[in-house]
Amino acid sequence: MNTLSVRKLEETDIEALLTFEIRNREWFESQIDARAPSFYSLQGVADHIDCYLSGFATGTWHPFVIEDASEGIVGRANLKDINSPKGCAEVGYRVDQRFCGQGLATLALKHLIQEARTHWNLTQLVAHVYKNNIGSRKVLERCGFQVEHESWIDNTKDECRFILSI
Ligand SMILES: CC(C)(COP(=O)(O)OP(=O)(O)OC[C@H]1O[C@@H](n2cnc3c(N)ncnc32)[C@H](O)[C@@H]1OP(=O)(O)O)[C@@H](O)C(=O)NCCC(=O)NCCS
Repeated sequence: MNTLSVRKLEETDIEALLTFEIRNREWFESQIDARAPSFYSLQGVADHIDCYLSGFATGTWHPFVIEDASEGIVGRANLKDINSPKGCAEVGYRVDQRFCGQGLATLALKHLIQEARTHWNLTQLVAHVYKNNIGSRKVLERCGFQVEHESWIDNTKDECRFILSI
């Protein structure tokens, strides 16, 4: 692996993002909710990027990609549903299956926490995770998130909630 960077998603990322999402579609759908089939086209990804960048412009969304100098986009991470008056947001991330287990999600989540503090002045981050997603739970715990006890013991739900006070 070469030099990695975490940077904001840009409108020029359409082709690279589509390649990343198609290559990993089956992998992501084995662990998280599937995207609409219409997403998997140049127009679908262009609309998706437009939507995320509009969210950035209005202060509700901060989308990032993890980029490898030679491989291109190898992961994504987002600050979602940013609520500045309440000082909170949700985090999400996904990593190319070929690059998993090398600390990329941890790197990206640390970047999100830093941006949440310095750029958005937030005080709390939350994550919703399927209970059987051991890798994601490990990433969250390593970055200081704590599971919300009620959501963990609620046997009617497959998901649980993690919280970080910052
Ligand atoms: C979850 C995900 C983002 C983790 O990305 P990653 O870059 O591999 O994460 P990291 O390398 O920073 O850390 C993952 C840790 O979990 C461990 N891990 C992953 N799967 C595991 C499993 N099934 N059992 C035990 N440990 C597991 C890894 O070994 C690693 O720990 P280590 O560094 O001590 O070896 C990635 O698997 C992914 O993109 N999954 C699909 C999308 C998704 O689930 N997103 C999260 C939604 S909440």
